[in-house]
Amino acid sequence: MKKVMTTTAGNPISDNQNSMTAGPRGPVLMQDYQLIEKLAHQNRERIPERVVHAKGSGAFGVLEITEDISKYTKAKVLQKGETTKMLLRFSTVAGEKGAADAERDVRGYALKFYTREGNWDLVGNNTPVFFIRDAYKFPDFIHTQKRHPQTNLRSNTAAWDFWSLSPESLHQVTILMSDRGIPKSYRHVNGYGSHTYSLINASGERFWVKFHFKTLQGIETITNKEAEAIVAKDRESNQRDLFENIQAGNFPKWSFEIQIMTNEEAKNCSFDPFDLTKVWPHGDYPMIKVGTMTLNENPKNYFNEIEQASFSPSNVVPGVSFSPDKMLQARIFSYPDAHRYRVGTHYEMLPVNRPIVDVNTYHADGSMNYEIKEPTDAYYEPNSFGGAVEDASFAEPAFETGDMADRYNHRDGNNDFVQVTALFNLMSDNQKEQLFSNIAEAMGGVPRNIVDRQLALFEQVHKDYAAGVKKALGI
Ligand code: NDP
Ligand code: HEM
Repeated sequence: MKKVMTTTAGNPISDNQNSMTAGPRGPVLMQDYQLIEKLAHQNRERIPERVVHAKGSGAFGVLEITEDISKYTKAKVLQKGETTKMLLRFSTVAGEKGAADAERDVRGYALKFYTREGNWDLVGNNTPVFFIRDAYKFPDFIHTQKRHPQTNLRSNTAAWDFWSLSPESLHQVTILMSDRGIPKSYRHVNGYGSHTYSLINASGERFWVKFHFKTLQGIETITNKEAEAIVAKDRESNQRDLFENIQAGNFPKWSFEIQIMTNEEAKNCSFDPFDLTKVWPHGDYPMIKVGTMTLNENPKNYFNEIEQASFSPSNVVPGVSFSPDKMLQARIFSYPDAHRYRVGTHYEMLPVNRPIVDVNTYHADGSMNYEIKEPTDAYYEPNSFGGAVEDASFAEPAFETGDMADRYNHRDGNNDFVQVTALFNLMSDNQKEQLFSNIAEAMGGVPRNIVDRQLALFEQVHKDYAAGVKKALGI
C-alpha cells in the first residue's frame, strides 16, 4: 500500500509540487500551509555547531572486557566478560563543521558507553596530553585556533604567540607538529582519556588511572604534501574511510588498556600526576590490558545520532570517578552547559544520548520535554509517596585535597621540558626532519620576535630541536 505524505500534524497532502495561488500567475494564498511549513522547517534545520570539535564522524560498536581488573574497580562495565554497546565520535578541533578532514590538528576521541549503571562518557583525544593545564586558558587558546576577528582568517601568529608564551604547551605542540599530527584516517589513531581519572573497587579503595585505546590498525600518518593532495580532491576523507570500512564489514578495533597509580605513588611521584600536560611513563606505570573495542555499526542518520550526540566528562558510573585535575574539573561543568545551549535542555532524552537504564530525576518541565511518565504524587523530594530516593551505598570514598584555597601559579614547580625531551629522543631521524619542516611551514608569516621566543623553548628541550627548526626556517 502506498504511503500518503502528510503535514507534521499528520494531515494528508494532496499536492507537493504546485503552490496554491490566486490564478496561474499568483500571488500565493496564506492557507497553503504546507508551503509555509516546508520553508519554516528548512529555516530550523541547523543547530549551533560545537564551539570546538565541530567537524566529526561517528559510529557505534561494542566494548568487551577480557581481563579481570576487579581489584581496581567495581564498575559493572569493566568486569571480565561484560560487553557494552558504545558510540565513538572522532573529530578535528579547530575547523568548522564543513572543514576538511585531512588537516593537521588533534583528533577528538569521544566515547559514550551505554552501561547497566547509566552512561559513562570518556571524552578524550588521540594524544595523551593537552596544550594547557589550567581551564582559565582554554577560551584564549581556542581563540588562537579559530579565526582573526577582522580578517576572518586563521592566524599562525596567534597560535605561536600563545604557545611561545605558554611553555606548558610544548609537549602537545611537539606531538601535533610530529608525523602523528595528520593521521591517515580515524581508524589509525590511538585514543586517550588523557586526564587522570580514578577507579574505585568494591572495598572502597581508590586508584588513579589513565585510559588508553591503542589502534589495532596500527598508527598510520600522512605528510603535509599528501594531505594537500587529498584535500584538493576530497574534504571528507576520514568520514568516507570510516563509513565505507564499516559498511564493508572491515570493523576497526582498539585494544583497551589502563595504567594505575596508587595514592601513595601519586604523593611520591616526581611530577604532578594530575597535570594534563604530562604522561605517566610506561616504564614506571606499565600498561594493563583490559579488553577490546570494535566499531561495527554506522549511524542511520548522521544528524540525529552524531550531530546531536552530547558527550560529557561528568557522566561517570559507580567505580569510575574524577581526579583533582583542574582541567577535568572545569570540563565537568562546561560540556553539559554546552549541550543545553547547542541541543536543548532535554538533550539526554534523545535516543543517542539516552541511557539504557531508567532515569529517575525530579527535574520538571522545560522546552521539548515530551516524556509522559505514570502520574505520581512523588514529584518533589523528599516525599511520602514512594518516589526515587538516594542510595548511600553509591557514596565514593573521600579523597584528600587538604590545602589552603588560593590562586596557585600553575607554572611553579612543573617541568615543561623533561617529557618533551623523552619524546624527541624516541623519534627517528626521519621523524625529526618531519617535525622541523612541519613547524617551519606552520610558522609562515609569524613575526621574528615570536619565532625567537619559541626557538628558545625548543632549545630547552634539546639543542638539536632548536637547530633543526632554525635550519628548516632558513635562519
Ligand atoms: P615509551 O617508549 O614506553 O612510550 C613511547 C610512546 O610514545 C609510545 O606509546 C608511542 O606510541 C608514543 N609515540 C611515539 N612517537 C610518537 C609521536 N610522534 N607522538 C606521540 N606519541 C608517540 O616511553 P614513555 O612512556 O617513557 O614516554 C616517553 C614519551 O613518549 C613521553 O614523554 C610522551 O611524549 C610519549 N608518549 C608516552 C605515552 C605514555 O602514556 N607513557 C603515550 C604516548 C606518547 P605507539 O606505541 O602507539 O607507537
Ligand atoms: C568538545 C570544552 C578540553 C576533548 C568540547 C565542547 C566544549 C569543550 C564546550 C563542545 C561540546 C558540545 O557542544 O557538544 C572544553 C573545555 C576544556 C576542554 C572548557 C578545558 C578546560 C578538552 C580536552 C579534551 C577535549 C583536554 C581531550 C582530552 C573534546 C572532544 C570534544 C570536545 C573530543 C568533542 C566531543 C564530541 O565529539 O561531541 N570541549 N574542552 N576537550 N572536547 Fe573539549
